[in-house]
Amino acid sequence: MVRSAMEQGRLAGRTAVVTGGAHGIGRAYSMRFAEEGAQVAIFDLDEAAAQATADEIKAADGDAMACQADVSDPASIQRAVEEVIRGYQKIDILVNNAAVFSVVPMSRAPFDQVSIEEWDLMMAVNVKGPWLMCRAVAPHMRKQGYGKIINISSGSVFKGMATQIHYVTSKAAILGLTRNLARELGGDGITVNNIAPGSTLSEEDPTEEIIAFRESARASRAIQRTQSPMDLPGAAVFLASSDSDFMTGQTLVVDGGSVML
Ligand SMILES: NC(=O)c1ccc[n+]([C@@H]2O[C@H](COP(=O)([O-])OP(=O)(O)OC[C@H]3O[C@@H](n4cnc5c(N)ncnc54)[C@H](O)[C@@H]3O)[C@@H](O)[C@H]2O)c1
Repeated sequence: MVRSAMEQGRLAGRTAVVTGGAHGIGRAYSMRFAEEGAQVAIFDLDEAAAQATADEIKAADGDAMACQADVSDPASIQRAVEEVIRGYQKIDILVNNAAVFSVVPMSRAPFDQVSIEEWDLMMAVNVKGPWLMCRAVAPHMRKQGYGKIINISSGSVFKGMATQIHYVTSKAAILGLTRNLARELGGDGITVNNIAPGSTLSEEDPTEEIIAFRESARASRAIQRTQSPMDLPGAAVFLASSDSDFMTGQTLVVDGGSVML
């Protein structure tokens, strides 16, 4: 998986933190970043799965570490960031991918039946989490005058999605977070961009019902096939590499041409 001449990778010499990097699309970002030569720190609630992903990267001659972290908890983030700085000395790339979605599942309900507890959890993990992560990582990027922050929103923000008001609202907030941070960090050589994936078959053990649901997204797309986690890392590598150094505050929609901005 990982190329032997790793210095030739597009992220060679870079250190990346991927939140929610143990499962689903985050796992695909972690594996691909390692293939491109980055040292990857996988932050996840699920420590065993984060370790399994790191072990898989190392078995393929890549470099990775697993850090148990809850992105909604500042103390937990601080511990994990310090672990990365001890291990790799710096952080160049942050992917804010962790979310309440399927591993930590969300319920689907009409807007007036979502519980207040679930609304609050959604905002704590999906909105406050990326803000807290940026707050903890930006000082390290500022020190070196270079950094790449990649937030993860959702194509659903541009269409609305009946029965997911808490999730769609949380992902819409990521557009504001991205643009605001881009303004605040541009002077420090830090870019802040956003990826909005379409409905992706990211579940590791999907039921027939989930497969049918993900396949139903085909009809709205210019490229009419089911989206897989492997459709996303290319855009993330671009935003993590110096190829995107003059691009900030932007959103790349990766959904087969369902939403066209
Ligand atoms: N799959 C899709 O259809 C789709 C579509 C649009 C956007 N997205 C977004 O892409 C990202 C990845 O989606 P996915 O399908 O891989 O989701 P997923 O549920 O499969 O994976 C999310 C990961 O985040 C981790 N996580 C959850 N809460 C956490 C917390 N508090 N702290 C640390 N880690 C935590 C989970 O353990 C898991 O590893 C999410 O931000 C999601 O909102 C997904």
